[in-house]
Amino acid sequence: MNLKIKKIISKKNKSKIICLTSYTKNYSEILDKYTDIILVGDSLGSVLYSFDTTKKVTLNMMIEHAKSVRQGVKKSLMVVDMPYNTYRNKTEALKNAKKIIKESKADAIKVEGGKKIIKIIEHLRKNKINVMGHLGILPQSHKGKFKYKGKTILERKNLLSDARLLQKSGVFSIVLECIETNLAKKITNELRIPTIGIGSSVNCDGQVLVTDDLIGLNLTSIKFVKSFYDIRKHINIAIKNFSKDVKSKKYPSKKFSY
Ligand code: KIV
Repeated sequence: MNLKIKKIISKKNKSKIICLTSYTKNYSEILDKYTDIILVGDSLGSVLYSFDTTKKVTLNMMIEHAKSVRQGVKKSLMVVDMPYNTYRNKTEALKNAKKIIKESKADAIKVEGGKKIIKIIEHLRKNKINVMGHLGILPQSHKGKFKYKGKTILERKNLLSDARLLQKSGVFSIVLECIETNLAKKITNELRIPTIGIGSSVNCDGQVLVTDDLIGLNLTSIKFVKSFYDIRKHINIAIKNFSKDVKSKKYPSKKFSY
């Protein structure tokens, strides 16, 4: 097993796992100091490309961004989302997972879903692909508003069963998205592998957020997103200063000219 993956699993019940998204080298250079996992998420579809759904994200988009991210990652585990319609059956999933890993040098891939994709995950694992799972709200198939999962007894039962199946199939960790607090706790306590929460309470083994959300660049009103900084304020200052200096012909001075 990949040493970085072993290290992440060993953190369970010891220290919280830090996971953040990155879509480019500059971001991952900054994140890598603090993160255990850097996720090239297909959230890049909405964050960078303003798509209304992650379904429009292609394999090549993911690979190009992952190649950029790789250049800034030294110590973290790098995971790349397999986009919509790229893992519909075993053959397609293996071919595309291999392509992502070969071209971007990612350590692992992430796929969304439980029972329905277990055979696909087992096939990937048999072929030595490291896989991260994703349960709860599944953006690639979700319709409508972001509500939490685990409201009904049936939904809770299915989510717990999916988490068990994913662990058995060999995933090294599972992202739990928007899962009710007590259910997230139950799943986390029961599994040997770590859970990484997003909108699923403090009970998970680690947390993930979209970096552009937490720095206040991507403006969103999703309940679970806390903005930890107002980066827009600082971009504003830099752009305002540039504009002022250009207009007053202070820039580019001799120092910045040939
Ligand atoms: O696409 C993504 O960025 C994700 C995380 C938010 C978990 O799947």
